[in-house]
Amino acid sequence: MSINQDDLKRAVGQAAVDYIKPHLDDDSIIGVGTGSTANCFIDALAEVKHLFDGAVASSEASAERLKSHGIPVYELNNVPQLDFYIDGADEINARLEMIKGGGAALTREKIVAAVAKTFICVADESKQVDLLGNFPLPVEVIPMARSYVARELVKLGGDPVYREGIITDNGGEILDVYNLHIQSPSQLESDINQITGVITNGLFALRNANILLLGTQQGVKQITL
Ligand code: 5RP
Repeated sequence: MSINQDDLKRAVGQAAVDYIKPHLDDDSIIGVGTGSTANCFIDALAEVKHLFDGAVASSEASAERLKSHGIPVYELNNVPQLDFYIDGADEINARLEMIKGGGAALTREKIVAAVAKTFICVADESKQVDLLGNFPLPVEVIPMARSYVARELVKLGGDPVYREGIITDNGGEILDVYNLHIQSPSQLESDINQITGVITNGLFALRNANILLLGTQQGVKQITL
């Protein structure tokens, strides 16, 4: 009998807690991502909340979930360092470069990931790809720049679609860029960030993951760069 996707997400959430547990102490603050897989991590983390100080969240939704478990949530500006950031991905390749932002939290995810020493990606096997870009690349923009940025993204070979009705935690809007076959993720990440009006884009190549905990039918595999 095959293991369903929700069970794979729960397995990697638990595996991430098992991975960080030996490193936790009373001063530890953990960077926490956003999405259904990150939620599984949060739920597993609640079981060991007596072993660490608190968390920094990459979205209001994750902050609420952490608080609902009684885990203190800190402002990133008040936290000097994070040993770990744990988050999901929409796609991840063999170099542990990712597309993220399906849940519209890409900018805060990138900020918290930038601070953390170790980025642990938790994902089920459906997220593993050879080439990034089948999943539409989210680009967060300043609202008044949306149409301009969309025209520039067309010049880069993509087909941007406005994610209507979504305002991010930062007051931004999202363009989802289809039909990018991303051969050079770091280069494209930089190129898109150069477009005036872009807040950030969902390529995590300049800051990729350090460790992937991948949920498979054969169990959780740990892939380390
Ligand atoms: C949110 C994200 C998520 O990590 C990504 O969308 C994966 O989500 P899920 O674990 O629900 O599949 O980047 O902005």
